[in-house]
Amino acid sequence: MTSIDRPDPVILGHVLAEHRELFSQMSAVRTAFAARHDGASARNAADAIAAALRSLREHLRCHFEQEETGGFMEESIARMPRLSGAVKAILRQHPALLAELDALIEGISGRPLTPDDWNQAGRAFEQFAANVAAHERDENRVVQEGYNEDLGLLD
Ligand SMILES: [Fe+2]
Ligand SMILES: [Fe+2]
Repeated sequence: MTSIDRPDPVILGHVLAEHRELFSQMSAVRTAFAARHDGASARNAADAIAAALRSLREHLRCHFEQEETGGFMEESIARMPRLSGAVKAILRQHPALLAELDALIEGISGRPLTPDDWNQAGRAFEQFAANVAAHERDENRVVQEGYNEDLGLLD
């Protein structure tokens, strides 16, 4: 049974809200990629994609920083030391995800791109999006597991 002073739903809700915001930023990037094929001038479309990617990058950096410095993941470990290994493994993915996004931004910056280049960038973004989605799924699972166990909902 939960008591009224438990922060679980608040923390869990915050994590989920953050992940939804990330999801909408990813959708904005996807829309920008799609607009490139909808006859928008190539230059404007490329600028829009680069801007959407940079905005996503900044959002992701802040999100990771929050998770790493006294955020909900620490709370999960404090409640459930058993999960500490899983949490550390998840947090170690942050630099790799940022590097993947940086490489993508770098790849489309500062030179004219061919249609093949754009197709490749689009595929790279979808791969990145899948990696982020897997990362967030693992996070949601760890947090949920920690709280469920804490609340005595597991065996
Ligand atoms: Fe994360
Ligand atoms: Fe996250």
